[in-house]
Amino acid sequence: MTAFTQTIYDDAVAAIQARTSLRPAIGLVLGSGLGGLADTLEDRIAIPYEEIPGWPQSTVHGHSGKLVIGRLEGQIVVAQQGRAHFYEGYTMQQITMPIRIMHLLGAHTVILSNAAGGLNPDFVVGDLMLMNDHINFVGMAGSNPLMGPNDERFGPRFVGMTQSYDKRLRELAHQAAVEAGVTLREGVYIALSGPNYETPAEIRMLRMMGADAVGMSTVHEVLVARHAGMRVIACSGITNVAIDNIDSNLEANHEEVLDAGKILVPKLTAVVKGVLKAL
Ligand code: HPA
Repeated sequence: MTAFTQTIYDDAVAAIQARTSLRPAIGLVLGSGLGGLADTLEDRIAIPYEEIPGWPQSTVHGHSGKLVIGRLEGQIVVAQQGRAHFYEGYTMQQITMPIRIMHLLGAHTVILSNAAGGLNPDFVVGDLMLMNDHINFVGMAGSNPLMGPNDERFGPRFVGMTQSYDKRLRELAHQAAVEAGVTLREGVYIALSGPNYETPAEIRMLRMMGADAVGMSTVHEVLVARHAGMRVIACSGITNVAIDNIDSNLEANHEEVLDAGKILVPKLTAVVKGVLKAL
């Protein structure tokens, strides 16, 4: 397991700080089809990921691959417009390096988002779900970004996970949703590696395990953020409803995920702006 050296982090931070004098307090990670929110930042600068040393590139359509720094609702924000995934062949350490960079840039809070399949039968496409907990299925299978030598500069060897999704921030998200007239669901997200979508038998199993939404990201980022003591809030955009029946003619696909993103961006924007305004 190759740990990142101090130089890799320092080089990335230096490359970013050379482009802007803004010093962000909030990190924002925008998942599949949700990147549009970063285009609304004021006084923004955008740095293509390939211009940041060590930064993992996203190869997935719908992830534009830029780091955008600017202002939103009076806060200085650093936003990842798209992210790299485990299924692209990166290590867990590589795909979570951007969270550590946000921390080193000065972000004390991270707002994460993702596209997810709805497992909870009450959920419909276009719903926004505030994550209140997660199941790290990929971690249980042995892939966890905190494995290997512990980097004491960031945090302790063992990390408690009970209060991972900050209660106060969740309250602020619900208030923001009410004020904006957005229905905000709440539930448990389960992370699988992907890139394939789930079989009907797997969907039925994930429901029995207590998950409300399924996706291929976010959880490992939450681990690294919590390890570094960052406050976390996360939202899943329900882009498709999980199919639990082998006789169904429907099949999950990336196009429907991106289409639903268009409905979800305004909802996510309203909730994120409301939280930022209240912070
Ligand atoms: N499963 C896993 N990941 C996803 C899904 C899904 O149905 N939709 C969007 N990301």
